[in-house]
Amino acid sequence: MRIILLGAPGAGKGTQAQFISEKTGAIPVSTGKIIRSAVKNGTPAGTIAKRYIDVGRLVPDEIVIEMLKERLKEDDCKDGYILDGFPRNISQALALDKMGIDIDIVIDILVFDSDVVERLCGRRVCDNCGATYHVDAKPSAKGELCELCGGILITREDDKPEIVLERLRVYHAETEPLLRHYNAQIKLRTMRSFPTVEDTAKGVLAILGESAV
Ligand code: AP5
Repeated sequence: MRIILLGAPGAGKGTQAQFISEKTGAIPVSTGKIIRSAVKNGTPAGTIAKRYIDVGRLVPDEIVIEMLKERLKEDDCKDGYILDGFPRNISQALALDKMGIDIDIVIDILVFDSDVVERLCGRRVCDNCGATYHVDAKPSAKGELCELCGGILITREDDKPEIVLERLRVYHAETEPLLRHYNAQIKLRTMRSFPTVEDTAKGVLAILGESAV
C-alpha cells in the first residue's frame, strides 16, 4: 500500500499520516522530517536545505529526491508507506514515476488559507521524536512535554506567520498543479479538513475503506 497525502502547509498531512499508520501499518515518510533531521545533524545536504526551509521555499529537487530514495530503501518501507510532503511539484512526481513506484491512492486534504496560519502558529512539535501537537486542537497530556517520549515541545522556526504566508504562496504555485497530474491518473481523492483531527480522520478512513486499500 502506497499513499500520497497532498495538501497545503497545516492541512493535517502529518497528523493524518500518523493516524493511517496506526490503522494500516503503513509507515509515514515525511520529507519535511527527513530534511529537518539532516539540518539538525549538520550534514552537507542539511546545511544547503536550511537556507530554503528558513525562508519557506522548496529545497532543491535533487537533494530531496536523493533523501527520499535513501529512506525508501530502508526495511520498514517494504510493506507500504504514506508519503507526507512528497512530491511537492511536477518534477518530483515524475521522479517518483521514474523510480518505478506505483502509488495506490493520492488523498488531497483541503484547508482554507485563513485556517492555516492559526493552525501553524498553535502547532508544537517534539524536539526529540517529531510528534505533532496543537495548543487547542491536540494538546499534549503532559503539557509542554511530549506524551510519547517526554521530549520538549517547541515551535518550528518556519511556523512564524510571515514564513507560513510564503509557504502558502509556494504551495499554490508549485504543489497545486499536482492535483491535475494525479486526477489524470484517476488516483486523486479530495476531502475537506474538518475543524477537529478526529472528524478529519473519519473522512480519511472513509476514503481508504472505499478504496479498499
Ligand atoms: P513539511 O514539514 O512537509 O511542512 P508542510 O508541508 O508545510 O506541512 P506541515 O508539516 O506544516 O503541515 P501538515 O499538513 O503536516 O499539518 P500537521 O499535521 O502538522 O515541510 C517543511 C519544509 O521542508 C518546506 O517548506 C520545504 O522547505 C521543505 N520540504 C519538505 N518536503 C519537501 C519536498 N518534497 N521538496 C522540497 N522541499 C521540501 O497539522 C498542523 C497543525 O494543525 C498541528 O498543530 C495539528 O495538531 C493541527 N491540526 C491538524 N489537523 C487538524 C484539524 N483537523 N483541526 C484542527 N487542528 C488540526
